[in-house]
Amino acid sequence: MSEPTKDLQPAIITIFGITGDLAKRYLLPSLYMLANNGLLPLNTKIVGVTRSGATVEEILNKIKISVESDGKTKCQESTMQWFKESLSIVSMDIIDNADYIKLKDKLDSIEDKTGICLLRVFYLAIPSAMFAPVVDKLGEQGLNKGCQHGTHESRLLIEKPFGYDLQSAKELIVRLQKSFTEEQIYRIDHYLAKETVQNILAFRFNNPIFTETFNSKHISHIMITATESIGIENRVTFYEQMGAMRDFIQSHLLQLVALTTMDEPKNMDAKSIHQQKEIILNSILPPHADNMGVETVRGQYNTYRKEVGDIKSQTETYAAIKLSINNDRWRDVPVFIRTGKALAEKVNEITIIYQKPNKPKHKNILVIRIQPNEGIVLDLTIKKPGFKDELQHVQMDFCYQQKLSDVQYTAYERVLADTLRGDKTLFVTSQEVLASWRITSPIIEAWANNRSALTFYDNGSWGPAAADELVEGAGSSWQTDILNICPTNFKK
Ligand code: BG6
Repeated sequence: MSEPTKDLQPAIITIFGITGDLAKRYLLPSLYMLANNGLLPLNTKIVGVTRSGATVEEILNKIKISVESDGKTKCQESTMQWFKESLSIVSMDIIDNADYIKLKDKLDSIEDKTGICLLRVFYLAIPSAMFAPVVDKLGEQGLNKGCQHGTHESRLLIEKPFGYDLQSAKELIVRLQKSFTEEQIYRIDHYLAKETVQNILAFRFNNPIFTETFNSKHISHIMITATESIGIENRVTFYEQMGAMRDFIQSHLLQLVALTTMDEPKNMDAKSIHQQKEIILNSILPPHADNMGVETVRGQYNTYRKEVGDIKSQTETYAAIKLSINNDRWRDVPVFIRTGKALAEKVNEITIIYQKPNKPKHKNILVIRIQPNEGIVLDLTIKKPGFKDELQHVQMDFCYQQKLSDVQYTAYERVLADTLRGDKTLFVTSQEVLASWRITSPIIEAWANNRSALTFYDNGSWGPAAADELVEGAGSSWQTDILNICPTNFKK
């Protein structure tokens, strides 16, 4: 284990839901990696809140299993020892007021023992329906203040979904802000913390050939794909309430649309970036009410109803939508987005088509591959070598695996590190949340009123045929695998 950093304010990280799936899969292994690499502040303490009365030993065991699940990493004894000494468990009922006094006493006693003022971070890895009552109670106990003896503010980390629709998101924002200011709230969209997603703005605004051409004069349409091969993985209750629209489009996919289409921020700081993201999200339009049937596609994988035990479930596990942007830069450039589960492959990419209407054959395709096979590929047309006057396609590519060392941090390591540093660039503002619900709510409503039929698709396929027809209208196809993007079998 590397020496902890002395540059950051020491902190107590309190995790609500430490025995849950999110903590097991992402938070605990990320904390382990940060501790192991010396990226946590000196004197960091972790408090796990759970109803089940799990022991420190049990949590340590989960960390080990999770960290070592890749079959390559071995947990270091010194880091596990650090965890053992720094982790404590508070067994409590998160809806019982009296238990918050217990939590406060615990945090105060840790500070008393450490003898210093600790930044208090509360991570709510619990169902979103519990955010408001838990935050109310944290506020009532004064836990919105950072330290019993100091004036620091504490920080609140919450996971999506932020609300269930536009109205509930508005209510949630107002309710949380009764106890924590906007400045104190860190809304996580882990896609923003992916290295390749962070590269979108760097790439767009530091390469004049792209900065100058990202507009309707050069680009005919944009397609963003986020397909997954996994199904809903036992998250029946959660997914039945969410569906693909609330789970993926309202958050991750609209954030990707915003980063791809926003104007250049004045500076690359949190405030300027959020300002531009809010502007673009407020310019994005869902399909017109009359076009919901043809410009949105909702699907469900064939075994879904059996899996969730409801033969009538209307929940979409697949969604494809045509969006438009009402500003000078992008007017008349459709943006197609699609996401789905139990599909042929996990692919996440942004495809930009350079093409003029009067010259359909003159075309360049730019693909920003978020994951896997991370990289950026530009498809070009060149003369085919030989006597004949023939053309052929070639690709210019930049592949992370080939050109850069391995991506160093996972998204959750970045989320946690940025919270401790107080850097909100990669988090979502309340205005972004509202703008995203404004785009998605009319579609959700139309679907609830059956204005776009639910179609079924085979597990392991590429989803409903109607989604292909959606982009065929723009003379396109979703499939970019013909470009053979950043294959993993090349040598470094
Ligand atoms: C989560 C969704 O936000 O993102 C999941 O709730 C989805 O349904 C996951 O599987 C995908 O994340 P990643 O990082 O594996 O692409």
